[in-house]
Amino acid sequence: MYTLGIVTISDRSSAGKRDDASGPEIESWGGRMGLRVAKKSIIPDDFETIKNTLIQFSNEGISLILTTGGTGFAVRDVTPEATAAVIERPSPGFAEAMRAKSLEVTHNAMLSRAVSGIRGASLIINLPGSPKAVRENLQFIEKAIPHALELLKGSLDGCENSVNMPR
Ligand code: MTE
Repeated sequence: MYTLGIVTISDRSSAGKRDDASGPEIESWGGRMGLRVAKKSIIPDDFETIKNTLIQFSNEGISLILTTGGTGFAVRDVTPEATAAVIERPSPGFAEAMRAKSLEVTHNAMLSRAVSGIRGASLIINLPGSPKAVRENLQFIEKAIPHALELLKGSLDGCENSVNMPR
């Protein structure tokens, strides 16, 4: 069973000033995808804290690490920079697909600076902060997740025996 790590990045939620609605949104998606939640964390929009949390999660071998929040233009939005600092192999396809599909929903999709990539055996993907955006973006990328995790685990050499070759 593949594992899921959830990192909610929000000054207000981490200070207990706002309920985290996006973390639970990811959690219920993970349940539908058959992923087991291994770790979750609510942290402030702080570069070092984000970086260290992602390193810790991936050092534990979590298959998929999803962050929510801090991808926009506000001064405190540093999630993409902190994520890029820990990624060893960029996999821009997820972020590209999310932006492309999200543009069909809102022009503000252009404002998400989300990145995606691989660190060790973990796939890390940034999602925007609102529960609505989380729901939509997960829907846009979920078809490619099982095959990505299979390849990362090393159980496949290529795409021939993919679990979800059909589009
Ligand atoms: N993508 C989708 N699919 N749906 C949305 O509602 N919101 C956008 C964008 N991407 C949105 C979306 C908005 S309003 C912003 S500002 C950026 O994501 C960045 O969000 P963040 O700063 O909460 O990470």
